[in-house]
Amino acid sequence: MTNRKKPVGPRKILVTSALPYANGSIHLGHLVEYIQTDIWVRFQKMQGNECHYVCADDTHGTPIMLRAESEGITPEQLIDRVWHEHKADFDGFHVAFDHYGSTNSSETREYAQSIYRKLKAANFIEVRSVEQFYDPVKEMFLPDRFIKGECPKCHARDQYGDNCEACGTTYAPTELINPYSAVSGAQPERRSSDHYFFKLSDPRCHEFLNAWTQGKLGTQSVAPLQAEAANKMREWFESGLSDWDISRDAPYFGFEIPDAPGKYFYVWLDAPVGYMGSFKKLCDTKNIDFDEFWKADSTTELYHFIGKDILYFHALFWPAMLKFSGQRAPTQIFAHGFLTVNGEKMSKSRGTFITADSYLKQGLNPEYLRYYYAAKLNGTMEDLDLSLEDFVARVNSDLVGKYVNIASRCAGFINKRFDGKLADLVANNVPALLGQKYGYSCVEAEKAATLIADAFEKRDFSKALREIMAFADSANQFVDQYKPWAMAKEVGKEDELQQVCTLALNMFRWLTILLKPVLPELAKNVEIFLNVPPLTWEDVHTSLPADHRINEYKHLMTRIDTKQIDAMIEANKQTLAPAADSHSPTRHAEAQQHTPSPQSSLASGESSARGAKPGEREEQPSTLAPIAETISIDEFSKIDLRVAKIVNAEHVEGAEKLLKLTLDIGEAQTRTVFAGIKSAYDPEKLKGRMTVMVANLAPRKMKFGLSEGMVLAASGTEPGLFILSPDDGAQPGMRIK
Ligand code: MSP
Ligand code: ZN
Repeated sequence: MTNRKKPVGPRKILVTSALPYANGSIHLGHLVEYIQTDIWVRFQKMQGNECHYVCADDTHGTPIMLRAESEGITPEQLIDRVWHEHKADFDGFHVAFDHYGSTNSSETREYAQSIYRKLKAANFIEVRSVEQFYDPVKEMFLPDRFIKGECPKCHARDQYGDNCEACGTTYAPTELINPYSAVSGAQPERRSSDHYFFKLSDPRCHEFLNAWTQGKLGTQSVAPLQAEAANKMREWFESGLSDWDISRDAPYFGFEIPDAPGKYFYVWLDAPVGYMGSFKKLCDTKNIDFDEFWKADSTTELYHFIGKDILYFHALFWPAMLKFSGQRAPTQIFAHGFLTVNGEKMSKSRGTFITADSYLKQGLNPEYLRYYYAAKLNGTMEDLDLSLEDFVARVNSDLVGKYVNIASRCAGFINKRFDGKLADLVANNVPALLGQKYGYSCVEAEKAATLIADAFEKRDFSKALREIMAFADSANQFVDQYKPWAMAKEVGKEDELQQVCTLALNMFRWLTILLKPVLPELAKNVEIFLNVPPLTWEDVHTSLPADHRINEYKHLMTRIDTKQIDAMIEANKQTLAPAADSHSPTRHAEAQQHTPSPQSSLASGESSARGAKPGEREEQPSTLAPIAETISIDEFSKIDLRVAKIVNAEHVEGAEKLLKLTLDIGEAQTRTVFAGIKSAYDPEKLKGRMTVMVANLAPRKMKFGLSEGMVLAASGTEPGLFILSPDDGAQPGMRIK
């Protein structure tokens, strides 16, 4: 049709999304990133580029170690379970990684160690003594988020070691009044130990990063950062780059530092190296040349999609690590903003902290969300709001009402009247008439496809979709104007009916090509319906061949039912107050990993610059847990609570938190329950005591054996844990109602 410049040859592109932590579920906030990246990658692949998309679980660090411990399993067991959960969530949303790995892999270990050795040889590593809080009971150094105490400014109690949620002040954990360990409740001591630092203050780093961030290296053809990100960098540069503490002391779940027994790489050292480790696995299975993508003079492209909160790591530490270990730096870092739901931070009590799994479990089509996010993403670092009302309205009106409608209004006539056969538009000179008679002309469409491709390339998906929907509007106007349903009733209009429907289906096909990066599954079904091979971007220049036969039309997409949304919100409302076996500092500590601080040592006095304020991502637990949702008496009576006599209580070898309880609830056999109450009770003193248990909880397999129920205990933000007792006279097995 028109003359198009052929690209010089396929580009070679490696794309990553940030590696999600292996201690929590994927939620709709995460999906902003993975869906965005997936759309971009699918677009590149449709363009015929060689594009590889890798990711992995980020598996190391203190919170993961402690969480595994509180669940009574090994960290390896925990990260394996979470890997499968994450993978299922991503599959469910059609996020098609070419490889999804784990940072706890031999590849990542080797690259991390070799990068470290090279940095050391080039004199970028320094050992310094650092004073930190130490938990004498737990025998471990405490990350800031595991220390709590009274805010030095507003005197709010139970504040975390790095900032006060009541007044917003940031401080060092040493400034807290009456600090205590969130792990054991013990009063922490100050202790010194040797830490390994990456010397970011070295003038070589400054020189390199200054040039790199501004796109001034000879090898750079584009600026690597968005304007807002570049501004942030300028601020960081002005406040001066400080050295980065890359080591943590044992016990730590991670990789040991070579020649430094008892010292581990801080999780953020090996996390980005996980990009390489995961890619290496892909290279090995697909015969891709790893070095071509990572060598210093690589001509391939490397893009990292990340949230704005982890810019510091990706725009400073990571390029410097790569550069000074003799490798390439990223081509561009694409940072995005945060998800809000109904204009507010995602909240567990409001039910808007929506997990990927709960969305899918409601039977909601994942492509609704892909479409909605795409309609809102514009390639900037602005936050993005999921307004649930708007979500329903937009999906129903755009996808079902406009796009799918074109096919559903025309397919039936072709199928029934013409045995699935399309009209020969060329022989009938239909394209030539397009400009005057029909919704849009070929020339316009060609121009639009180029514009839309450009918007996809720039990650301005909202612009692409606006254009696409404008064409869907024209296609509908065209159908409205010719009214095939009326033609079908008129005599002598057979040919025109076939032509109008054929043309409408061609428009539908054209729209499908453009929407395919966003709606891959729907596109697959359209390909079946239209009876065509997988559509590529090149197909925008062609039409369906004359006399082509289509298949029977089946429903492509249904409307969203608001009830499903309501049910999803309900399902995400946190209804249970913390119970004995979930009383664990790792619940609170999740937030610690969510807002990793580049430096966390006390004595370093380094500024902790970051992209987002701590706690920006999710609602932090408040001092008193909010009262849960109202439930009906029927719901309550589902929980079978019984008076239980503790006939035996003992320590469990290898378990830091658990006691093994043998409980008599009047059944023929006693029950075994592992309860996380070791910090609060001496087993000897529990023997013979009466308490309360949940008797109909599904048994849970733990590392130490089967737990057949749960013992109830009260806990707050203060340390301390209190099991319940019935009044005198209650007998084992009595039901509590
Ligand atoms: N493990 C680190 C990344 C290491 S990359 C070498 C991490 N993990 S995370 O699970 O907390 O977040 C993964 C990605 O999801 C990050 O890019 C983060 O910014 C993004 N998001 C997490 N919550 C988000 C929202 N509420 N909204 C948008 N993106 C969010 O950070
Ligand atoms: Zn305060």
